[in-house]
This record gives sequence, structure tokens and C-alpha cells, in this order.
Amino acid sequence: MSRSEGNAKGRSVTLHMVSSLDGFIAKKDNNVSWLDSTGVYEAGVSISEEEAAAFVKTIDCYVLGSRTYEHALELGWPYGDTPAIVVTRREWPPARKSVEFYSGDLKTLVDVKLAPRYRNIWLVGGAMLCDRFLELGLVGEIRLTIGPVLLGEGLRLFSGPLTEQRWNL
Ligand SMILES: NC(=O)c1ccc[n+]([C@@H]2O[C@H](COP(=O)([O-])OP(=O)(O)OC[C@H]3O[C@@H](n4cnc5c(N)ncnc54)[C@H](OP(=O)(O)O)[C@@H]3O)[C@@H](O)[C@H]2O)c1
Repeated sequence: MSRSEGNAKGRSVTLHMVSSLDGFIAKKDNNVSWLDSTGVYEAGVSISEEEAAAFVKTIDCYVLGSRTYEHALELGWPYGDTPAIVVTRREWPPARKSVEFYSGDLKTLVDVKLAPRYRNIWLVGGAMLCDRFLELGLVGEIRLTIGPVLLGEGLRLFSGPLTEQRWNL
């Protein structure tokens, strides 16, 4: 989906998240193992591992909240050597070379720090940071993958506070 109006139009930030059918991005205990069993969508377009790898190479930079960062470290860093900006107000021990911590204004992060350097910026969670980006109109595109599972409870995607926004499918 792309933004149909507002100042995010044309911005290069893509929000990418995987949600359950009932709108959760993690279980209450942070477990995301349900992401691994999404099954096959027969009417969908299958892409090979090579195509997927080639696509990931087009991503110039990842942006993530500190809780997603902590979880990614626990599960095994999935972002390779691609630059990754971790948004946090905390102090952190030195991280891998590709990781940078950021604690200031989010609009400044996108417009001043990232947009001049990176063309394809991916915001990969979590719920809290995505809501802040959406509320500030910093997202130009949303790629939402829905996994075929009902979780019943957990960490809700788009929990707000958010105001109405129109998007083009
Ligand atoms: N299903 C999926 O696709 C998916 C994707 C990503 C994550 N997840 C899951 O989601 C969970 C984490 O999500 P979450 O919503 O709890 O947390 P999150 O958004 O990853 O991180 C929240 C943290 O980001 C920092 N932050 C957020 N807004 C900020 C701002 N405006 N300025 C400065 N810092 C800011 C704060 O860090 P400090 O407290 O350090 O200051 C805040 O505590 C994990 O379980 C993860 O595995 C799922």
C-alpha cells in the first residue's frame, strides 16, 4: 500500500511487518515462532531463494525500535551487514559495525540523516516505533504480510494512538 495523501508521499520509507490474522505481531511473551509456519499461499506468486536474496539486497538501510533490536540479537541477527539504525533513548554497549543508535527527533532522522544517504529505507518494527512513524507521516509504503494464524492475544500492530489515514492498495 502506498500513501494516497499527506507529506509521506514520495518518501522512501517502507514499513514491513508480519501480522497474525487477528492483528498481532508477537505473542505476549514476545514469541514469534509462528512466523516460521506460514504455509503456502497457492494463488500467490512464488519466488525462489535467489530472488528473495536479490530483493533483500535492494534494501539500503533498516530502522528498528530497541525492543525489536534486542529480540533480533536473541534470535540471530537477520539484517546482515546492511546499515541498521536502532531508535532508543538508552545507552547501549558497542554493537556490530553496521548498527547505529539514534535518540533524536524521528522526522530529522528520516529527512536529514537517512533520505540523503539511502534510497530504500525499511522500517521493520516493532509496533511502538511503527505507530510513531505513521503518526508523524514518515511512511511512504506499507508491506503487510498476514500469516494464517489466529493468536488470540499478544502485541498488537497499529495500537495507536493514530488518526485516520487513507492508503492506496
Ligand atoms: N511480526 C513482525 O513482523 C515483527 C517485526 C518487528 C518486531 N516484532 C516483535 O515486536 C516486539 C517489539 O515491538 P515493540 O512495539 O514492543 O517495541 P519496538 O517498537 O521494537 O521498540 C520500542 C522502543 O523503541 C524506542 N523508541 C520508540 N519510539 C521512540 C522515539 N520516538 N524516540 C526514541 N526511542 C523510541 C524505545 O526504546 P528505549 O526504551 O530503548 O528508549 C522503545 O522502548 C518484539 O517481540 C519483536 O520480536 C515483530
